[in-house]
Amino acid sequence: MCGLVGVIGDDNLRDEIFLGLHKLEYRGYDSAGIGYIDGGICTIKCVGGVDKLQSITHAINSKVCIAHTRWATHGGPSVINCHPHVSAGKSVCIVHNGIIENCDYLKNKYNINCVSDTDTEIVATLIEIKYLRTKDKLQSINEVINELKGSFALAILFDGDNSIYFARNISPLLIGFGKDKMYLCSDVLGMPNASKYIDLPNLSYGYITLSDYKVYHNGSIANCNIVDVGIDYTSASLGDYPHYMLKEIYEIPKVLKDTISYYVKNTKLVNRIKECVHRINKVVLIACGTSYHACLMGEKFFNEMGYLAYSCIASEFVYDSIPIDKNTLCILVSQSGETADTISALAKCKKAHCKTLCITNVVSSTIAKNCKIVMPIKCGPEIAVASTKAYNAQVLAMYVLQYIFKNKKLSTLHTHINKLIKLLDVSVIEKQSIKYIKHILSAKNIIMIGKNADYVSALEASLKFKEISYISSTALPCGELKHGTLALVDEDTLVIVFDTISKLRDKTSNIISQIKSRGGKILVISNKENNAANYMIALPNIKERFLPLVSVIPMQLISYKTCVACGYNPDKPRNLAKSVTVE
Ligand code: F6R
Repeated sequence: MCGLVGVIGDDNLRDEIFLGLHKLEYRGYDSAGIGYIDGGICTIKCVGGVDKLQSITHAINSKVCIAHTRWATHGGPSVINCHPHVSAGKSVCIVHNGIIENCDYLKNKYNINCVSDTDTEIVATLIEIKYLRTKDKLQSINEVINELKGSFALAILFDGDNSIYFARNISPLLIGFGKDKMYLCSDVLGMPNASKYIDLPNLSYGYITLSDYKVYHNGSIANCNIVDVGIDYTSASLGDYPHYMLKEIYEIPKVLKDTISYYVKNTKLVNRIKECVHRINKVVLIACGTSYHACLMGEKFFNEMGYLAYSCIASEFVYDSIPIDKNTLCILVSQSGETADTISALAKCKKAHCKTLCITNVVSSTIAKNCKIVMPIKCGPEIAVASTKAYNAQVLAMYVLQYIFKNKKLSTLHTHINKLIKLLDVSVIEKQSIKYIKHILSAKNIIMIGKNADYVSALEASLKFKEISYISSTALPCGELKHGTLALVDEDTLVIVFDTISKLRDKTSNIISQIKSRGGKILVISNKENNAANYMIALPNIKERFLPLVSVIPMQLISYKTCVACGYNPDKPRNLAKSVTVE
């Protein structure tokens, strides 16, 4: 979703700001813009990519610059709606991540006419109005944020001032310290030349200059920790891969290894998780999209152990009446840790005094900061919008929880994962998958089915496939096919069958017969040969109970290959954002 970056420095501002904007592109956006001061406030904006913006930005003669990638919410993608927004009197310029929920109320209250459809422009004019009265920039910002409802990370320029002012509530915002530059950014990846940073506290505001910064909360100085960036930026760069998505699929074995090794070493965290076991009678797993599918896998593990366990889609959970209380363990799963629906769900869990545990790839995220127990997955930055390696690691985290809850040794799980990694050669799966792209592209209907854990893999496969190939597909449990969707099956239908559970194989074979007798073609993804299949992708020969960790890899690769064959960019699917920070 939207990305925000600001830089202060004596030189190279153009290079620095575009470096940051390029690094934020992965979040998904539809327009981009920059603002700076050169004899008054200047802005350059365009609909489309950062490259386009760069090509129309010839020089930045300014010591300060703020910039933004916008993912349209209030008002469509247009130059007028693109950030930065400038106040009515042209003295204040802002970029904003988040949503101002009471923007219409404020427009009426202050009788402000905006030229854009956004919820941001009003904030620039409101700061200007307050500043004209108070003549105090910080006081004006504080007064404005006290009136705003919703979420915001704001970078603010005042004409004639070489500082960048800021304010934040809910949406993340960081101050970065570089060698001869200061940064403000919504995401640590957007300031690769910063070596240290401050994660600004909620409802803080303040400013940065080239040599100083001040952070306030309600009129008083706020104490902030300066921490090392500690990111290996090579893991956020493409290397020899054509796309991040492919790179990230190839990273799955390493991610599984790093994640399990982390838990084997981190006995303190494991002991904290163990403490939960005795005091809970229900487990609720909550997430969105791909992370929700990891929850569905976890639900099965908890059910097997005799717990009442439910998976909930975060945006539904908020309005559900599912009973939760202090004896409920709420497991929130979020790669980014910034998904607005999951954050709202977490607020509900906390209000009901539930125990909260999150599984996340970003330990400094809002969700991590607000959960009692944080279970990291060790993926490194996931840049492609479509989540791949994070899903496999989230499912591994569910195995880790199962071992802890059963009081089994994690070293045993470690041994199993090491064996799995030795047998998992992504390039072998890729070679098999490529063969079927032409059948996928010629099918009129694509249906994915499976039983039990295989159904969860089918759901995740179908989501991955549709989000980057833009080809419709549906996923359902094998047994459900005959209750309606079978009507779609004809000679132009391809049914992708996940078949990894030996005790259910007979039932799955029945379904395959029903499909074949109606002319449908079958692609089986399995660790065992299947003579009834038209096409087959063999999974590595690993222990059956660990197949859920790998069974979606063929469809991650097929989705990728189909997308590329169609000429689309798999890293930035249309209409989607990496981190969905609005409800
Ligand atoms: C799909 C995908 C999304 C995310 C969902 C939740 O490939 O990436 O469905 O899984 O938006 O995001 P997180 O896990 O960051 O909360």
